[in-house]
Order: sequence, then structure tokens, then C-alpha cells
Amino acid sequence: MALSKHDKIERNVSLMIVLTIVAISFGTLVELVPLIFGKQVKEPVEGLKPLPALALEGRDIYIREGCNNCHSQMIRPLRAETERYGHYSVAGEFVYDHPFLWGSKRTGPDLARVGGRYSDDWHRAHLFNPRDVVPESNMPAYPWLFENTLDGEKTGDKMTSLRAVGVPYTDDDIAGAADAVAGKAEVDALVAYLQQLGTLLQMRR
Ligand code: HEC
Repeated sequence: MALSKHDKIERNVSLMIVLTIVAISFGTLVELVPLIFGKQVKEPVEGLKPLPALALEGRDIYIREGCNNCHSQMIRPLRAETERYGHYSVAGEFVYDHPFLWGSKRTGPDLARVGGRYSDDWHRAHLFNPRDVVPESNMPAYPWLFENTLDGEKTGDKMTSLRAVGVPYTDDDIAGAADAVAGKAEVDALVAYLQQLGTLLQMRR
């Protein structure tokens, strides 16, 4: 019995491997190439600025404490999400984020637009002991953030590294970084970070 073309491929492992690689590469390119050349994923949204020194340290504390394991920062363009969290996330909001903190696990609510939703005092009380403000909360308490202070020794270096990957920090930003954070409590940095999240794009109501 003559082999069909398909049988020939299935019986020849090398050919099968080569064709599989070609198929997967093609699929990958179709997904990636438009993103590499597409403008809207690389251009910052209007008004986007690199994080100020204190908020930048706050972001590192956010990562250190694993907040991103329970909180996503990505609002999908679905009605249920935009009704609850506000304007869906757009790529241009994240061009200065290294690494991205989009996440996918939502033990707690999405935080992409939490900036300005609560007062600084609310955040402080909540971080000190979430149960004090949200009785049913199962979020951990972070009391040590109120005792630990920042020295700012590495803040300028962090900005220099981020500048190397395209975040437009100026020499002045870098020179002033240590002074801007030295002596501040970690909780102040974290709240500064939270309060600016997603504030550039607000939903018109
Ligand atoms: C174990 C999972 C978990 C971790 C880790 C966690 N959270 Fe939460 N978070 C929650 C849950 C659940 C809620 C909802 C109840 C509440 O408001 O406390 C919440 C609520 C919040 C809210 C209020 C959001 C809103 O829209 O009402 C903020 C802000 C927040 N968390 C920030 C943080 C920060 C900052 C960290 C890291 C220091 C953190 N969370 C770590 C689970 C978590």
C-alpha cells in the first residue's frame, strides 16, 4: 500500500521534528512580530513619567513582600472588570515597568488603578493590620514596614540600571534619589507607589 504524505511524515522522526519547529515558529512569529513593530505597545501613554525615587523604592518593597502573588495589576477589557476596577489596562501604561507586575493570581482585588481610591491613612491602617479596616480580610499584616527605614544608598543605582533599559531618568533624578528617600519609612514608599498606580487613565463616568 502506498504511503500517504501524512504517513511519510509520521514515520520520519527527523522530518516530523523539522516540520513541528516550522509550524510552532510560524505561530510564534504571527503573535510576536506585530507587537515588536506595533506603536501602541511601545509608546508611553500621555503623561507617563518614570516613578519618583520614593515610589520606585515602594515598588521594590511591593515585590519583596510578594504583594504581586495575591494582586494582579491588569484590568482586562471586560465589562465585569471595568465596572469594578475602572478603565482597562493599556500597554502604554507599562512601558517603564521592569519587570511587569501584571500577575494573574487574584486572591485580593486587582490593584492596577488603586491609586487615589483610598487615603494614605487608609493604606497605612490597612497595611498595619488589614482586619482593622476590612474585618473579613485574609491579607497578611505588614507591621515591620513601619519600623524599617530606607537609606537610599542604592536608589540612584536602580535608576541608572532602569535608564539603561530605556526608562528616561535624568541626571538630576539620579543625583537627588538618595536624599529623596533617606530616612523614610518603608510604608511611606509603598503607599507612594500604590497611590500613583493607574492614575493616568481614569474612566469617564
Ligand atoms: C495572601 C494574599 C495577599 C497578599 C500577599 C497581599 N494582599 Fe492585599 N489584599 C488581599 C485581599 C484578600 C484583599 C481584600 C480584602 C482587604 O481589602 O483587605 C486585599 C486588599 C488589598 C488592597 C485594597 C484593594 C481595594 O481595591 O480595595 C490593597 C491596596 C492591598 N491589598 C495592597 C497590598 C499590598 C501593598 C500588599 C503587599 C505588601 C498586599 N496587598 C499583599 C490579599 C493579599
